[in-house]
Amino acid sequence: MPEPLRELSTRAGRVRVFESALAASSAAADRLVEVIRKSVASRGRAVIGLATGGSPINVYRRLVELHVQGELRWDDVISYNLDEYYPVAPGDPHSYRAYMQKHLFDAVKPAANRAHLFDGTVPESFANEQAAGFDRWIAADGGLDLQLLGIGRNGHIGFNEPDDAPLAEALARPSRLERLHPITLEDAARDFGGDESRVPRRALTIGTATILAARSVIVLAFGAQKSEALARAHGGAMTSATPASLLQSIADRVTWYLDPAAASGLAD
Ligand code: F6R
Repeated sequence: MPEPLRELSTRAGRVRVFESALAASSAAADRLVEVIRKSVASRGRAVIGLATGGSPINVYRRLVELHVQGELRWDDVISYNLDEYYPVAPGDPHSYRAYMQKHLFDAVKPAANRAHLFDGTVPESFANEQAAGFDRWIAADGGLDLQLLGIGRNGHIGFNEPDDAPLAEALARPSRLERLHPITLEDAARDFGGDESRVPRRALTIGTATILAARSVIVLAFGAQKSEALARAHGGAMTSATPASLLQSIADRVTWYLDPAAASGLAD
């Protein structure tokens, strides 16, 4: 098991800094497996919130390895994905559904009714209703045992984007259709051949209320481009302008897995 180079506690949680993104991902995967095992042992299932993007790819690679080696059973895992572009066609290779198939689900083969992703094809007038359904389903499943998160350069978590809402509102956001922030669109362009005009302008996202109700949270962040957002999330005030700072409200349940470049702005 990889050991961290540095560990610290901030107002946003426990921070573990590893020598590389790969080492951090491997440690995060081990933690995920531990939560899955414990949850299945204690309540017969594990309910896990999953993220997409670049940060979790090596976590999923490791989970697939463990599954192939017979070390990780996926049979009792119920998963909910954080977000999906809207609108997006079911077979679109840019969809987060396609991403999950490629990086995890093709290998672990969840049962058809156990891996939940937003459907980016629903009529616009029902998009928020679908999202609200996810909040109810997760609650009915007994809440999330673990939520896996990345963080945007603008400090977003899921697609809860920065804004100037009052704090109480920011902490209690339901799952919904959200307009993507300019920095999110800029960063997403790399998945669309560098052409920002092809990135859908909106996305369905799990809201902060459900994320913050998770019994444990893992945040992955790698590379210098994340260091400013991390410094704000850990050292700044809790504010809707930096959605990751809202994790300060549940700091005792949050563990951050970082590489040295991402952690460079965090004071001991
Ligand atoms: C993806 C998600 C986003 C990403 C974030 C970081 O499901 O919810 O919040 O986690 O944009 O993306 P990467 O990992 O590509 O830097």
